[in-house]
Amino acid sequence: MPDKTPKGKTANAETLSLDLSYISEVVTEQDITALYPQVKSALESLLNKTGKGSDFLGWINLPFTVEKQLPAIKKAAAKFEKCDAVVSIGIGGSYLGIRSTIEALGGSEKIHYAGNQLSPTGFNHLIEQLEDKKVGLVVISKSGTTTEPAVAFRILKSWLEKNVGKKKATKRIVAITDESKGALKEMSDQEGYETFVIPDDVGGRYSVLTPVGLLPIAIAGFNIAQLLKGAQAAAKDFQSTDISKNMAARYAAARYLLFKKGKTTEVLANFRPELHYVSEWWKQLYGESEGKEGTGLFPASVDLTTDLHSMGQYLQEGQRNLMETILWIKSEKKDIIIPKDKDDREGLNFLAGKKLSWVNEQAMKATSVAHRDGNLPNIRLSLDGLNEYSLGYLYYFFEMACGISGTLLGINPFNQPGVEAYKKNMFALLGKKGFEDLGAQLRQKGV
Ligand code: PA5
Repeated sequence: MPDKTPKGKTANAETLSLDLSYISEVVTEQDITALYPQVKSALESLLNKTGKGSDFLGWINLPFTVEKQLPAIKKAAAKFEKCDAVVSIGIGGSYLGIRSTIEALGGSEKIHYAGNQLSPTGFNHLIEQLEDKKVGLVVISKSGTTTEPAVAFRILKSWLEKNVGKKKATKRIVAITDESKGALKEMSDQEGYETFVIPDDVGGRYSVLTPVGLLPIAIAGFNIAQLLKGAQAAAKDFQSTDISKNMAARYAAARYLLFKKGKTTEVLANFRPELHYVSEWWKQLYGESEGKEGTGLFPASVDLTTDLHSMGQYLQEGQRNLMETILWIKSEKKDIIIPKDKDDREGLNFLAGKKLSWVNEQAMKATSVAHRDGNLPNIRLSLDGLNEYSLGYLYYFFEMACGISGTLLGINPFNQPGVEAYKKNMFALLGKKGFEDLGAQLRQKGV
């Protein structure tokens, strides 16, 4: 059968396609092909667990291994059916994948978020929203010691116990944490909370397909079985060591080569506001995985067309150290037709009868070509639709590409030593036991 794949494009799955033709003036198909042996060896080091960070590779087969937990997760989610509000408490990897999925799938009035910042204003606003509601709490922390969620949980637990009594509150709390250690695990055992485990070999930013993501997403009413199905299909596609057919490997190769040509910032651009948190999740994944030892692409994001009227100028004509990945969704659940107006004062009747999605698509194409012509090479990732299956597929795609990409850079993509620096200083400033000397040093420096 002849290969119908257009030059520069790979389409080895119906769900997602990758178009590299708009980077060809900077990185050619030949450049990418020449890197295949290195990419293959990076992928094999992940699959064979021989590279850096090999004790954090549980995410590779997670879409399959987690499946047996679905009945228990669905049962726990059903417990929250009687609640009108459920607060998902967590930060970083214990927050972003949940919000990314729920917002991308249309949002949830039932799910609220806490523990992802320390502002009293935000907290007071949340508590106001919870007044008079039947509230449940899902507290998520792998380490069980992260300050933001620990503080939020203490406040909300005490608020809930005051409102409904300790016994009822205990039944409305589920904790997701380490299997055997950490303050949250200890507290859960003592208080009798139902618990789910974040596997030891899965880092926070790779945990969306563990109970961390699956429980809150199921409580919000979305289909977690489909999310896993999508990720399973992606795992089959992106574990392929035939690099020419592996889109995740080709994406990793392309962005690595762009980086080597001085494109040190990658901007993820979407054309749908509900993808805002997908970008936030993506930024954590790539930022924490690659940004170490003085290397790594800086991950940034824009929501278009909104930000074309703010960041658009910089993207088009600012420093040329940028590359862009456009995340395009090919179909809409419900479209809108632009109406005809008899007066046509704004001269828009040439668009009357057209779908709004078509107008958005022309904006995407216009942006992509303008950026390419302005030396902002862009990679296009097109997802067929936005649903549980396609999101599961996309998450795994980005995870695998990130693992390969970090390995190409020569760093350990699965640790995050830099996150500790601010934490130690904060503990010292807060007066935590064991940080007295650092506290004294900081005060001496005038902090
Ligand atoms: O990716 C990571 O490991 C971090 O961003 C963590 O997810 C974040 O710091 C929260 O940690 P924890 O789940 O231990 O509270």
